[in-house]
Amino acid sequence: MEAIENIKRRRSYRAFKPDPIPREVMQEVIEAATNSPTFMSTQPWEVAVVTGKKKDRLSDKLLELAKTQAQKRPDVSAPPPWPTELDQRKHDHGARRLKTLGIEREDEEGREALRLMNFEFYGAPCAVFLYMDGSLGEWSTYDMGLFTQTLLLAAHARGIGSVIQGAVTDYAPEIKDLLGIDAHKKLLVCISMGYPDPEALINSYRSIKKKPEEFVTWHE
Ligand SMILES: Cc1cc2nc3c(=O)[nH]c(=O)nc-3n(C[C@H](O)[C@H](O)[C@H](O)COP(=O)(O)O)c2cc1C
Repeated sequence: MEAIENIKRRRSYRAFKPDPIPREVMQEVIEAATNSPTFMSTQPWEVAVVTGKKKDRLSDKLLELAKTQAQKRPDVSAPPPWPTELDQRKHDHGARRLKTLGIEREDEEGREALRLMNFEFYGAPCAVFLYMDGSLGEWSTYDMGLFTQTLLLAAHARGIGSVIQGAVTDYAPEIKDLLGIDAHKKLLVCISMGYPDPEALINSYRSIKKKPEEFVTWHE
């Protein structure tokens, strides 16, 4: 697929076919992601690819934590509070997604079911965790973001859908423990990946993007 077309068509998918992603395809997209730029070529990324029984065990553990509202201990925290404009966009995204699924705001059960889907990796056959050394700071987090997007685009070019999930990493210590990752590493994101289910209603949701004229100033 042509590069710009691939970028424009990429979006988050939240329902997947059960078909596994072949190991060689995952290897290819991860290798493509290593072509991302980094601060002084430091390449801070560390990647855990979780499938099969291990993924099921991890999902069981995460669901238990999420259902019991266990204490959240993310390695990366959200800003308290979000600036007004961003907070509004966040709110609109949540409301529009519920509307797509026909879930009313007052329907607490429906909303909870939607939240919990995060911890089943939205049914994806593969969950990828990106982490880096705990001593690293903002530049390396930036590098990890570049790696993430390159990974997503490479995967998309191979027909693989994905969704980044901050919600999952709320349980960073438990995830690191189960995957044998050093407690001092910083867990940044989980990415669920698989072949998208085109029939699923949840995959019909589209986020609204800001127009360049809303945020670009030109200086000559
Ligand atoms: C850092 C980060 C964390 C995210 N966390 C979640 C999440 O926990 N659950 C989820 O369903 N989507 C999550 N997303 C996906 C966003 O909701 C999605 O990227 C956004 O709505 C834009 O839609 P698009 O990816 O379809 O363009 C996350 C995205 C990013 C970049």
